[in-house]
Amino acid sequence: MWRLARDSGSLDLNTSYAYLLFARDFPETCRIIEVDGEPAGFVLGYRRQSEPETYFVWQVAVSDEYRGQRLGLRLLEDFAADARYLEATITADNTASQRLFSSFARHRGATLNRRDMFSADHFPDDHDAEGLVRIGPMRTTTQDATFNPDTDTDTNTDADETEIRPMSTVELESQVRSYSRSWPISFDRASGATIHDVNGKPYLDFFAGAGALNYGHNHPHLKETLLDYFTSDRVVHSLDMFTPARDDFLATFHDEILTPRNLDYKVVFPGPGGANAVEAALKLARKVTGRESVVNFTNAFHGMTLAALSVTGNAMKRGGAGLPLVHATPMPYDDYFDGDVPDFIYLERLLGDEGGGLNEPAAVIVETVQGEGGLNAARMEWLRKLSDLCKKHDVLLIVDDIQMGVGRTGSFFSFEEAGIVPDIITLSKSLSGYGLPMAVTLIRPELDIWAPGEHNGTFRGIGPAFATAAESIRTFWRDDALRDTTVARGLQVESRFNRLVAEHQEHQLVAKGRGMARGLQFSSGDLADKVTTAAFERGLLAETSGPEGEVVKLLPPLTMTDEEFERGMTILEESVTDTLQANPADKTKEFATS
Ligand SMILES: Cc1ncc(COP(=O)(O)O)c(C=O)c1O
Repeated sequence: MWRLARDSGSLDLNTSYAYLLFARDFPETCRIIEVDGEPAGFVLGYRRQSEPETYFVWQVAVSDEYRGQRLGLRLLEDFAADARYLEATITADNTASQRLFSSFARHRGATLNRRDMFSADHFPDDHDAEGLVRIGPMRTTTQDATFNPDTDTDTNTDADETEIRPMSTVELESQVRSYSRSWPISFDRASGATIHDVNGKPYLDFFAGAGALNYGHNHPHLKETLLDYFTSDRVVHSLDMFTPARDDFLATFHDEILTPRNLDYKVVFPGPGGANAVEAALKLARKVTGRESVVNFTNAFHGMTLAALSVTGNAMKRGGAGLPLVHATPMPYDDYFDGDVPDFIYLERLLGDEGGGLNEPAAVIVETVQGEGGLNAARMEWLRKLSDLCKKHDVLLIVDDIQMGVGRTGSFFSFEEAGIVPDIITLSKSLSGYGLPMAVTLIRPELDIWAPGEHNGTFRGIGPAFATAAESIRTFWRDDALRDTTVARGLQVESRFNRLVAEHQEHQLVAKGRGMARGLQFSSGDLADKVTTAAFERGLLAETSGPEGEVVKLLPPLTMTDEEFERGMTILEESVTDTLQANPADKTKEFATS
């Protein structure tokens, strides 16, 4: 131990007896790593008694001879396999340790926070100030079979670095990635409502590509369509050139979706993603009306491009823009004031008031259920009133149906139940039916004023997506079976959520949503996160949404079997109950306000 401390070149040798005492008294959290039978490094630490999920690293040392082999990282991985948080104190000039802990945080997909702890005044000699590094929350690697397989023995020094591959590309990608932080494993195969990690472990997928997989993963019939498309060398990329696949989609969409609903829209292909459809909608509304201002709603989400962000509520997401987001006026969404104030008073008054100061809006953009905003479902009468208000004031109504359309709430379009007819509709996510990129902006024929090429883009004609989109419409929308199942299952989720609300009254849970877009709101994002983590550990993927991530969100494939539905709901209920039992209500309140 002494020799190692000496060879590490950075540890205080006078206190090396303390290393031995640590190793003796905290054997569970002290590790030594050997290379060819020789000690090459150690980590000493302990589990915080008052906070057993936090592991504190007292010392980590790697002999000079073995530097560059990432032994430090492997020691930490082994040491902290069961930890949710890892802490250490580091001096500002100890760049090797700073690098090591940063690298560890990246490997575990966790956030690293630093704060001052002991200033230099605390030390009699010229010891530098010690800052506290805290990493977490992390998933425990012992619960994740795919993660870092070389950590189960600290003497396994023959292990090639590639053995920690599932996480090694993490360093190549920007830290902006987000979903892989909730589920820090590598997914490989998927079918229906099940997705498998690289080791073959199955997870029930109640996230469904954030609503892009309403018909599940790799639906067998749509897969056949796709394979056939590829094997017959049909055109994959076509901008807006004519192709049979494009014709087929347009005709099928017109005949099977628009005509039976008595709807008359022209189709704009705006680009492959949802934000493309929103950009096109906002651009066109402004061009048609000659006005620049758009009314949006609190907690709205419309995408990450600049115009889409300007009508999005979430402060964190808006912060990514790097410039002021203008020409949008947020108004309260339905029930924003918890029923205390009629939500329309403000918008209604401003629209009709010469002294109101509201720039005359080109359009109002709205989601019928706010998916990212926390599963807030507008009432039908609110939507009807909004539509009437828009008509009265000659303002275009844009319904962003990117997440709630294509059957998520039951009917193909989520506004059908309200009986309104928007001027512009955006669709994407599940439109292709297979998780392929595809979006449309539907516009009333009178709004079709763009000159040829005035709105354009390279990826507006993706043949395979046209093919699966048309086939999915033929498969699922020629009768009401999918719609009826979705509505019925949605009501089942609602009543099961209501039962949880009643069983855990002290936690003041709120059941939210419509159709198969459902949410359960907790008192804090931390609690909701604990629930989705518990669900993940039991084999269920579900994400959180809402301004603080406080809503556990369910968007399962609409095509799942009854058995999958039952199993997923049971896992979720157990995860909620266990989490709430482990976090009594008064404690969570403290946490929420701290
Ligand atoms: C309602 C709504 N609009 C727009 C978007 C943006 O879609 P995309 O991520 O494909 O750009 C989303 C994405 O979640 C959405 O939910």
